[in-house]
Amino acid sequence: MDWQTFLREHPDGPLGAYLSKDDQAKLSVAERLFVEGRATLDEVATILEASPDVARDVLGRSGAFKRKKILVCGGAGFIGSNFIRHILDKYPHYEVVNFDKLTYAGNLDNLTGVDRDPRYTFVQGDIADPAAIDKVFSSGVDAIINFAAETHVGRSVYYGAREFVHTNVLGVQTLLEAVKKFKTPRFLNVSTDEVYGELSLDDKRAFDETWPFQPNVPYAAAKAGGDLMCRAYWESYKTPVIVTHCSNNFGPYQHPEKLIPHSIFRAMANQPLTIHGEGQHVRDWIFVLDHCEALDRVLHQGKLGEVYNIGAGNEISVKDIVRLILDILGKPRSLFVNVPDRPGNDLRYSLDIGKIQREFSWSPAHTFEEAMPKTVQWYQANIDWVERVRERDKKSLSYTI
Ligand SMILES: NC(=O)c1ccc[n+]([C@@H]2O[C@H](COP(=O)([O-])OP(=O)(O)OC[C@H]3O[C@@H](n4cnc5c(N)ncnc54)[C@H](O)[C@@H]3O)[C@@H](O)[C@H]2O)c1
Repeated sequence: MDWQTFLREHPDGPLGAYLSKDDQAKLSVAERLFVEGRATLDEVATILEASPDVARDVLGRSGAFKRKKILVCGGAGFIGSNFIRHILDKYPHYEVVNFDKLTYAGNLDNLTGVDRDPRYTFVQGDIADPAAIDKVFSSGVDAIINFAAETHVGRSVYYGAREFVHTNVLGVQTLLEAVKKFKTPRFLNVSTDEVYGELSLDDKRAFDETWPFQPNVPYAAAKAGGDLMCRAYWESYKTPVIVTHCSNNFGPYQHPEKLIPHSIFRAMANQPLTIHGEGQHVRDWIFVLDHCEALDRVLHQGKLGEVYNIGAGNEISVKDIVRLILDILGKPRSLFVNVPDRPGNDLRYSLDIGKIQREFSWSPAHTFEEAMPKTVQWYQANIDWVERVRERDKKSLSYTI
């Protein structure tokens, strides 16, 4: 099929009626995969056997490029900023509103370049402020994804949990009220595997989506509170919400108070790397762009009222992560220093990700072995970004993880 000639011969309106059965079938598969976020424009072009430009015109005529406005809360943080880049790159017809309070963890530097995109708008505000939330919802949004949270476990343990409850519980409840009031079709609340509690090192089980919540630190308890609020709004009002629980992320734009960037910067400066206990705690590490792709699938195709685990199956101890960073940077292992363990430091998390793999044929595209050295190189190459964060928030860099 020569789609270009075909488009010229039928200059207006939908094309379906003029297509052969075979081409109709191809177009309908391509449209569905594209609208659900399962195929890129290049992949659609391959299905249609056309160039990406022609594929874009064909999809445009079929209405697949219906504009959508996604409200991203907490988009100035680590995962949220990666997600905004992912969405704007992948969906040329989407608009993104980034609503963020800009706490110490929010950083508009994470969105340099994106801020010049006419499809992107930034609004500063608190997700627990109903008036501010109503204002942003009243302009009409097609879907909302919430990354906004207080996220530093150590802060919640040592410096008080009030802000954690404010944002991670009350903030989520405020968003749920707005979704209900403005009849927003979809709300995805991004959460953590830490709500499930801990496993022993030799436990053969893994947390599935029905595992009971047994949080051991105020951060995880506050996240669990927000997640339970989502469940209750679904059960009580059928508020269209989905919750995801992800394992530990790593990649570009992570605040330097978190283990991996913290270790990279300290090692680069030949400063000791302080690790709680023996560093035997095991986490599952996922590259942030794999998390973003999984969230994209859940946002577009997830079943309302459901919960999905997202992980990568890379169970590695904190000690081994830090050793690897030292090796990548060519630094001596003697920089490694143990300090007393933190209260409530879960020994191990292990996630069962069978549900998301089965339902969306999703699995991480990046191996740990490739993504980790690339992450170290990103921080080495973006030392200005690092220095600006350091300058702004010297206090957070003195914390151990
Ligand atoms: N980083 C991880 O490894 C990981 C793993 C699993 C789940 N998560 C979850 O993913 C989400 C994002 O995590 P992250 O690491 O990107 O966090 P982050 O700390 O880097 O970013 C949080 C963002 O939320 C904003 N924010 C905080 N309070 C707010 C409020 N009241 N109103 C509006 N904005 C507010 C901050 O300014 C910041 O931009 C969190 O909900 C976290 O629980 C993170």
